[in-house]
Amino acid sequence: MTRAMNTPNRSTTHREIDMTRLAGLGLEVEELAEQGPLTPDRVIALAEEQGKPASHYYAAVALATEVELPTAPVTAVFCVGKCQSWGALECVEAAVETWEKRGGGFMIAVKSCLDRCVEAPVVQLRTPAGTALLERAKAADVVAGLAAALE
Ligand code: FES
Repeated sequence: MTRAMNTPNRSTTHREIDMTRLAGLGLEVEELAEQGPLTPDRVIALAEEQGKPASHYYAAVALATEVELPTAPVTAVFCVGKCQSWGALECVEAAVETWEKRGGGFMIAVKSCLDRCVEAPVVQLRTPAGTALLERAKAADVVAGLAAALE
């Protein structure tokens, strides 16, 4: 099989969450969404309560539900599709930690693709001043990008 043209030819560094697990997590987030918008505090609380990583719930939102995440003037949008194989979930965890440290100030959103797959993992930082695209993003880039956006 030939590899899709638009995936990196760098070796994968991480494993994707399997679809069965995602489907289960998706049901949990759908239930949570019935009670109100999926703001980071509510997703993080669910993750803590269930003893699972918040990033796994975020992956489930993008890949296993029809649920919409709220946005704010500053919103970090993570590709949690194929980008998972190059560390996307670590980027999401970095945003979750930043959110907890700051007590908010931005929203976390997810997509199944941000159309820059060759540069996985890809993160968009949307701010009132414009949108920055982080390519081959690392957790530290997300922390720094959010710090700059929230100054
Ligand atoms: S799969 Fe992540 S940008 Fe396309």
